[in-house]
Amino acid sequence: MSRAFGIYVHWPFCAAKCPYCDFNSHVRERFDDAQWAKAIARELEAVALLQGVARPPVSSIFFGGGTPSLMSGHAVGAVLDAIAKHWVMAPDAEITLEANPNSVEQTRFHDYRAAGVNRVSIGVQALNDPALKFLGRLHGAEEAKAAVKLASAIFPRVSFDLIYARPGQTLADWSVELNEALGYGTEHLSLYQLTIEKGTSFETQYRLGKFALPEDGLAADLFALTDELCVARGLYAYEVSNHARPGAESRHNLLYWRYAPYAGVGPGAHGRIERETGMLATLAERLPERWFARVEAEGTSLETEEIGSEDAAREHLLMAMRLSEGIDLADYESRWGVRLSRVKIAQMIDEGFADRNGARIFATPRGRLLLNTLITELVG
Ligand SMILES: C[S@@+](CC[C@H](N)C(=O)[O-])C[C@H]1O[C@@H](n2cnc3c(N)ncnc32)[C@H](O)[C@@H]1O
Ligand code: SF4
Repeated sequence: MSRAFGIYVHWPFCAAKCPYCDFNSHVRERFDDAQWAKAIARELEAVALLQGVARPPVSSIFFGGGTPSLMSGHAVGAVLDAIAKHWVMAPDAEITLEANPNSVEQTRFHDYRAAGVNRVSIGVQALNDPALKFLGRLHGAEEAKAAVKLASAIFPRVSFDLIYARPGQTLADWSVELNEALGYGTEHLSLYQLTIEKGTSFETQYRLGKFALPEDGLAADLFALTDELCVARGLYAYEVSNHARPGAESRHNLLYWRYAPYAGVGPGAHGRIERETGMLATLAERLPERWFARVEAEGTSLETEEIGSEDAAREHLLMAMRLSEGIDLADYESRWGVRLSRVKIAQMIDEGFADRNGARIFATPRGRLLLNTLITELVG
């Protein structure tokens, strides 16, 4: 079966660290993005060598961060040229760049488009200034709205992110905000409930009682309302937090959740390369300076580890059960040479944790809350 193949490029720098964020992002006074693009090109070459001669065409590329919109158009173009040296690009390849909506970054949108980017995912986060201030964002609401409008005029495909279930947010507040967001008519929205992550400044503030999150009942109602408002405007939840018009799903994100192979380069990036001997996990050095020094000295920072088919089967199920489409049972079993217990599946369906649609099995919203337990029961 021919599958998609994607390339993830991690750009680790941000202008400021947001208090909720535990991504591998670092604030640095300066960086030389031409040198960084060269180093990324070197790590790409190393992945191509790991993959061997049978390299599948690239169906998607994702510049994620950190804040990739701190890169110049030139640096983005240099990375895309490096990819084209080692892989054939599928003619309809999706090339996404995560952009922050600060006005300075908007000035680069035309350059990204000229370099080949055809999709942007903008970190809007909220549509009003007090909420943006609480989230520690450097942009205001008007700036963010202008970014969405500008991006919609430049790029064929646009998505943006919002964080909801914020302290004090009511159902009525969220309904107004989400309807305004839907009014921009983008084909895709990523809508995340605010989570408190370890090691973030929000973790400390939350522990000290500086703010409270909506209690579970309200959070569940906000989640249900999100789905309802999106569906009313033609966007369905193809994944827990990702909503798209049919056909406008992020192909790159789908690739992770369908457990298709991908290369991951740049600080802290993960990859899953498919070789004749099975899946190979790759992991890049996390700290930017150490990553750069290792790539300069050795050509790559990637550590690798073979993944046995039982572990791969487990990982695949964990990812796929986030998707509304779930898995095709026969495809899944033949890919990994496993057989899932029909008795357990029937039990999960009876208990309302899973459901089926023809040959496909998927987790219900209730089941998604218990994914780890369910998967252990199914795959061991
Ligand atoms: C890699 S991050 C951000 C991309 C870009 N740097 C930005 O901030 O606009 C991807 C998204 O994850 C979401 N996110 C990050 N931490 C979160 C948290 N603790 N709770 C909810 N959403 C979070 C945000 O919506 C963010 O835009
Ligand atoms: S949310 Fe985005 S801008 Fe903020 S620290 Fe994380 S990666 Fe950087």
